[in-house]
Amino acid sequence: MILNDGKAMDMKRKLKSIFCMAIAVAMGLCVSGCDLQKKGDVKTIGLAMPAKSLERWNRDGEYLKKLFEKEGYNVELRYSDNNTDQQVNDIQVLIADDVDVLLIAAVDGSTLFRTLEDAQIKNIPVIAYDRLIMNTDAVDCYVSFDNYSVGEIQGKYVIDALKADETSESYNIELVTGDTADNNAAYFRNGAVDTIKSYLDSGKFKIPSGKIEAEQTATPGWATDIALENMQNTLASYYSDGTKLDAVICSSDVLSIGVVQAIRSDYNGGNMPVITGQDGDIAALKNIVDGNQSMTVYKNVSDEADVAVSVTKAILEGKELNEELKDTFSAECIFDTQSYDNGNKKVLSYLLTPQVITKDNLDELAETGSYKWDEEHKYLEAAS
Ligand code: GAL
Repeated sequence: MILNDGKAMDMKRKLKSIFCMAIAVAMGLCVSGCDLQKKGDVKTIGLAMPAKSLERWNRDGEYLKKLFEKEGYNVELRYSDNNTDQQVNDIQVLIADDVDVLLIAAVDGSTLFRTLEDAQIKNIPVIAYDRLIMNTDAVDCYVSFDNYSVGEIQGKYVIDALKADETSESYNIELVTGDTADNNAAYFRNGAVDTIKSYLDSGKFKIPSGKIEAEQTATPGWATDIALENMQNTLASYYSDGTKLDAVICSSDVLSIGVVQAIRSDYNGGNMPVITGQDGDIAALKNIVDGNQSMTVYKNVSDEADVAVSVTKAILEGKELNEELKDTFSAECIFDTQSYDNGNKKVLSYLLTPQVITKDNLDELAETGSYKWDEEHKYLEAAS
């Protein structure tokens, strides 16, 4: 059929408007479909981390976010500047935003129980990440490392490094431990103190400062500058007469970094003491290469995050958290129902195994993918 020009134009216009309407309907369907998918299927995970400024938590936060997003979840990530009020506020915001699961590394595990009542009211499951949350039923699971063993490893390392079992000498040591508000700090300290206890009892190890109780050795906020200042005071009061310092058991790298600084500036002895740490912070690894720190206890962040993501998925799929579940994790860990009592209940725990890193096996860190060697293959740096 041949149409004259006027009719042809009319027909074209009609076809065009039908075509436009069809597109609009299709787009509308897609928009509401996508909305539905967003509201219904895609779950949101609320992550509350202690502080972006502390290397370990920055690493955990970013890695967890990446991993959850890769698994198809939305993520709301909040860092609390190591401030308890700020973290309470952050968690309240996450609860108000109706996140589907809360994963929390507490600044102070004893301050969150009231806030978490709101999570319970809204049926939001809570996973305590790395640090236990105290005095609440709201915590469904605890994902961490075997914290006591971190201290044991440090104590054992010092005994071996000083060859304490092979000589008749006695050794002077000091303890520098974490923030007592962090439930982990007591486990690290107890693991170390229990391990060296018989050496202290026999006089093989002496603590010239006499600082052995938790409140004497603790470092508020795990702050490097406080660790530095405390060590300077200890050195000034008990070592300025030339007393030799053989070892400092530091619970974590954020502490050992300050302790090393104090020893390098204020210690008069000719030796560099054996110094322990934990976490594999870049500055501590540099100290290890330079002979200023002896070891760090490494807790593989990607393994801890993997387990946290698997536990989150299991909870969202309504699966039971039990011994068998751990066989589905990519990282090895133990299922523990007894060790972590938060005052209200024994919290089901999945605990990973830490590993010793010295200058001889730094390559193992490079192999994790979280670190890479610098151009001279001398120091490790963060892999981007
Ligand atoms: C602990 C954590 C350690 C260390 C420390 C200081 O709770 O388990 O790995 O990072 O806090 O941030």
